This record gives sequence, structure tokens and C-alpha cells, in this order.
Amino acid sequence: MSTKKDSFTSKDKKFMKLALDLARVRKGLTGDNPSVGCVIVKKDKIISIGQTGYGGRPHAEHNAISNCFEELKDSKMYITLEPCNHYGKTPPCTKNIVKNKISEVYYSIDDIDPKVKGKSYSILKENNINVKKGLLKKEALNLYKSYYINRKKQLPYIIGKIALSKNKIIYSDISKKITSKTSDKLTHYLRLKCDGILITSKTLNTDNPKLDCRLDGYMKFSPKRIILDKNLRIDLKSYIVKSIKNENTIIFHNSNNRNKKSFLIKKGAILINQPTNKYKNFDLKKILKKLYMIGVKNLLVEGGDKLTKSFLQKRMFNEFYMFKSSKNLLKGNKYVNFTSSGILDTKYDKYKINFKLATDKIRIYKI
Ligand SMILES: NC(=O)c1ccc[n+]([C@@H]2O[C@H](COP(=O)([O-])OP(=O)(O)OC[C@H]3O[C@@H](n4cnc5c(N)ncnc54)[C@H](OP(=O)(O)O)[C@@H]3O)[C@@H](O)[C@H]2O)c1
Repeated sequence: MSTKKDSFTSKDKKFMKLALDLARVRKGLTGDNPSVGCVIVKKDKIISIGQTGYGGRPHAEHNAISNCFEELKDSKMYITLEPCNHYGKTPPCTKNIVKNKISEVYYSIDDIDPKVKGKSYSILKENNINVKKGLLKKEALNLYKSYYINRKKQLPYIIGKIALSKNKIIYSDISKKITSKTSDKLTHYLRLKCDGILITSKTLNTDNPKLDCRLDGYMKFSPKRIILDKNLRIDLKSYIVKSIKNENTIIFHNSNNRNKKSFLIKKGAILINQPTNKYKNFDLKKILKKLYMIGVKNLLVEGGDKLTKSFLQKRMFNEFYMFKSSKNLLKGNKYVNFTSSGILDTKYDKYKINFKLATDKIRIYKI
């Protein structure tokens, strides 16, 4: 049954929704390639499904085709993104679709990659395949927002996160835990969905964090640890230094400390000598560009107050998660306040999402 707004049936929408769910689950785990979902249907029955492989290959269409035990001839394929049509590391998906005599292809939106964009429609049509695009377009645009930002701006998609007490404290030397264990799970989920996590050496030396993803079975998807450390003050006894291996740690510095540099490089860290600007700080935009170039597509910033403020002031976050506890925190001898609530309410206010998670309140701001 078609709706007034478009020519797609409720069954089409149901199958595309499943394809979008498949893509959503794998999002953040497909490297340079976008996460795509694919559903193959014959006589209204699902005969196969596919997702982009971990790291970006094989493509979802390839997986759905090769996972299928039934005759593909005259089947209908639902794909969340335009199928690829060029020879890259794998042959074009359009070719695979034609070869397997799939008779209809519905996809949500065109790819933004100029090598692919818009060409598949005519390639498939020329091969007598019934093609339609635009099915659940709004949902797909939302899903691929980060991919579009990556390709258009050549920057990572940036998520910020901070945990604060009811009285807006983000650190106190007498009371370390701020939010609930349930909120920790959401933090680890964000880490799973990001390929890089950024902090300063100040936070590293104060908190000695692990910065990994501790969801059962997902440890191997922990993000690369990225440390801003102008004067190379990083504590060599910290957990992060002890667990450096295989370039899992990137340190931006502007230091001549040869011994410390060679120690860190020998351990397997990537050290990037980054010039400072007239304020004797790193230009964050330049750092983000470099991170994008070395493969960080989704970045989580778990900064302290100062780093978070710099990102907020420049409206650099695409999303910002505020985890607020229902309890006040005692201040002790040393404490740090969160001083950016005003910036959030003026510059980000419009797009708030609020929910309760165990004893905490979560507020998500989006640009
Ligand atoms: N509750 C939470 O969610 C949370 C999360 C993270 C951290 N924290 C807490 O926050 C506290 C630290 O907060 P903070 O505001 O004092 O520090 P911060 O934001 O972690 O780091 C600030 C320092 O990082 C360096 N830095 C920041 N931006 C830079 C740039 N663009 N270029 C070069 N260097 C830059 C500067 O070092 P220099 O002074 O050397 O220039 C600056 O003083 C810690 O106690 C930690 O426990 C809490």
C-alpha cells in the first residue's frame, strides 16, 4: 500500500528499515567505508541480508549475495546507500547485482563519494533493472551524517562527552566516581562507535584512565588513544604508556625531550611534532585534519574543562553528551568545575535530547 507522500509501499519501508538497522549496528566499525545494510527479498520473503564487513570490506551487497542460499534471479534488493559502481579493492557491486539477475534495486540515498555519486542509477537502468531511490531518505541522511561530514569537510565526526555532579564538579580529589555504572556502559558504547579518543596529558596524569571499550566482546574495537601533550609531560608509569602497542597511541607534542620521545616511539606510539600558534597552543582544526588523514573518522573527546571549552567555543562538536549525576560532589583540596554550561545553552540549546539513565540525567546536544 502506497502512502500519499511517496510511491513506496509499507513493505518496502519495512525491508529498508531492516537494512538501516543492519547498517546502524555496524556503524563506526567499517573504517574508511560507510556502514551499509542490504536486504534481499523474493516474493515478499527475505532470502538474505548483509552488512559491510568490519574494516569496510566486503561490501554489504557482496555479503548479502554470497550469503544467499536461494535463487537470486528476479529478486529485489534494498540497500541503504547507492551501490558502488567502480573498480576499487573489490569489483563494482552494480556488476555483481547485474550478474546475479536481481531485477529490482531500491536504495535510500546517493553516495557522496565523487567516484560513485549518482552513477549507479543509470548503470542499473541500462541493464534493465528497475531502480528506485529515496526510500526512507530522511532516516538514511541521519545515519550517514558523519560519513557526509567526513567526506565534505575532510574532518572526523566529533562527539564530546563530560560527566558532572549536580553541583557541576567534573573532578574532586576526594571523590573520583561521578556518574553511575549504567552511564559507564553508554560511555563505552560511544568509545565502541569511535575510532579515536582525545584527552590532554593533564587529564591523563590526573586520572590515569584506560580509555578503552569495556563492553563484553568488544575490547578489540577500542579506539586509538590521542593525547595532546605540548611539553611531553605524559607520565611514563601511566596505564596508557604501559599499554602502548602497534601504533594504538598518538601523541601531539612540541617538545625537544629526546629521551622521552625515543622511549615512546620504541614502545610503538606515533609522535607528531605539532607547531603551536601565537597563543602557544595547538590549532585544534589542524590536529583534526591530521587525525582524519591518518584514519580517525569518528572522534570522541573526553576532555577536561579547558579542552571541552575550546571545542565548544568553536562549535567543533557535532554532538555533545552531558552526563549529570543527581548527587553533589564534595570539593576536597583539589576540584575542577564545569564552566561551559552557558556556552552549551546559547550555542547548542536548540537541539537538546534528554533522558534519565539509572540515577543520572543525560542530555545530548547536536549541531
Ligand atoms: N568528569 C569528566 O567527564 C572529566 C573528563 C576528563 C577530565 N576530567 C577532569 O578534568 C581535569 C582537568 O581539566 P582541566 O580543564 O584542568 O584540563 P584539560 O582540559 O584536561 O587540559 C587542559 C590543558 O591541556 C592543554 N591543552 C588544552 N588545549 C590545548 C591546545 N589547544 N593546545 C595545546 N595544549 C592544550 C593545556 O596544557 P598547558 O597548560 O600545558 O598549556 C591545558 O592547560 C582533571 O582533573 C580530570 O580529572 C573530567
